[in-house]
Amino acid sequence: MSQPEPFATTRPRRVALLGCGSVGREVAARLIEHGPRLGIQLVKILVRDALRDRGLPPDLFTASIDEVEAADPEIAIELIGGVGPAASLVTRFLSRGVSVVTANKTLIAHRGPELSAIAERHNTDLAFEASVCAAIPVIASLRHLAGDRVLSIRGVVNGSCNFILSRLAEGWRFDDALAEARKRGLVEPDPSADISGRDSAEKLCVLAAAVGVSFEPDRVQTQGIEFLTPEDLAAARRSGRTIKLIAELDLSDGAPRARVGPTLLPRAHPLAQAEEEDNAVAIETVLGGELYLRGRGAGPRPTASAVLGDVVRLIGATAKNPERRSNHGSPWPAARHHLRISGSSPDPADVLGALRARGVEPDEIAVTRDEARIVTPPVPWPDAAACATALAGPDHGRVLVMPVLEPRSDVRRS
Ligand SMILES: NC(=O)c1ccc[n+]([C@@H]2O[C@H](COP(=O)([O-])OP(=O)(O)OC[C@H]3O[C@@H](n4cnc5c(N)ncnc54)[C@H](OP(=O)(O)O)[C@@H]3O)[C@@H](O)[C@H]2O)c1
Repeated sequence: MSQPEPFATTRPRRVALLGCGSVGREVAARLIEHGPRLGIQLVKILVRDALRDRGLPPDLFTASIDEVEAADPEIAIELIGGVGPAASLVTRFLSRGVSVVTANKTLIAHRGPELSAIAERHNTDLAFEASVCAAIPVIASLRHLAGDRVLSIRGVVNGSCNFILSRLAEGWRFDDALAEARKRGLVEPDPSADISGRDSAEKLCVLAAAVGVSFEPDRVQTQGIEFLTPEDLAAARRSGRTIKLIAELDLSDGAPRARVGPTLLPRAHPLAQAEEEDNAVAIETVLGGELYLRGRGAGPRPTASAVLGDVVRLIGATAKNPERRSNHGSPWPAARHHLRISGSSPDPADVLGALRARGVEPDEIAVTRDEARIVTPPVPWPDAAACATALAGPDHGRVLVMPVLEPRSDVRRS
């Protein structure tokens, strides 16, 4: 007998949004579009100006917290920011047994332990994955490592500073790099929290809270990037290194230590691979060794991704996600392939003839004394494999054929 549709008969889980700015708008749009399939209903959105047209159903908006409460949400998503009203709203919902999801690092860094205690007392949850590194699941990873022991967390957690450092490495002056970051919307109108390291210190405190260590942002030894010059980056480069703003938590002994500051790294270090506005985090554990996470660590859409991940986790919908797709045996799409013939020096005309006989006009052919390298245009795997088979054998020696991994341009981003 077939199983019933996972959410067909269950009542949708009620979610309210507190704040509908850059991140809130993304979250609201996703909840309206995908909520029904996830079994989630967006019931109210709290803003200051409930009459402003935001391209979303106007009846969802209110400026009254009482109205939000009257809508009886099970989860409140706080996307207002700062400590001010956010702390009292979060306290209010947690105290009524409503779980809270937030992207607010300032709130968690300054009030996290107190709010977590309120959540615990009222048998509810406070989730804050989105508050550090946006869509990169750093907090989920730390949670998953609870059976191991985390020895250190190190990371590039401020994308704006990383962008500025990437420009300095190209020879830009600091003020020009900052102006460019501003032009691209990577820094706040007042960039001081980013470039002074304060934002990184707050994020470090959130990561500390995720492993049960309470740290005040003011107690983090913090240095910013504002004094760095392109010459500093050039000197680092000459010694095979680079400079990154690293936030670092050392838990290797009984006295946790936290620091943020420009740090010299070998250019081959995994954290040095975070370029432009990327974030990267290294977690060192006793059993698992060193783990690395890297990706887009900011922006409304990656932040919305993390917020929604927390919501789905809290309502336990992941395992029942009805969007699960089965394997219909679809062929892998065409890709460029690299063929390498080794151990002989084939005649380029023979190689070209063999490829053309299989309908493949190569993009590149390079023949040397003892090998030939060919790059095909995008072709299906069976065609690339057929070319390899035709080129192998006693006349030509060994042929290695592999698809070339290229950035995806066909992924649906909407
Ligand atoms: N933006 C990002 O890329 C990003 C990345 C990571 C984390 N975050 C975090 O995500 C949170 C939200 O950021 P954001 O950029 O979306 O903020 P935002 O664009 O400034 O939006 C704030 C929203 O909160 C509402 N609001 C402010 N004060 C309020 C009050 N007293 N009562 C009711 N509503 C109030 C505003 O209402 P009105 O619209 O009516 O003014 C607005 O809708 C922050 O904690 C931020 O640090 C943001």
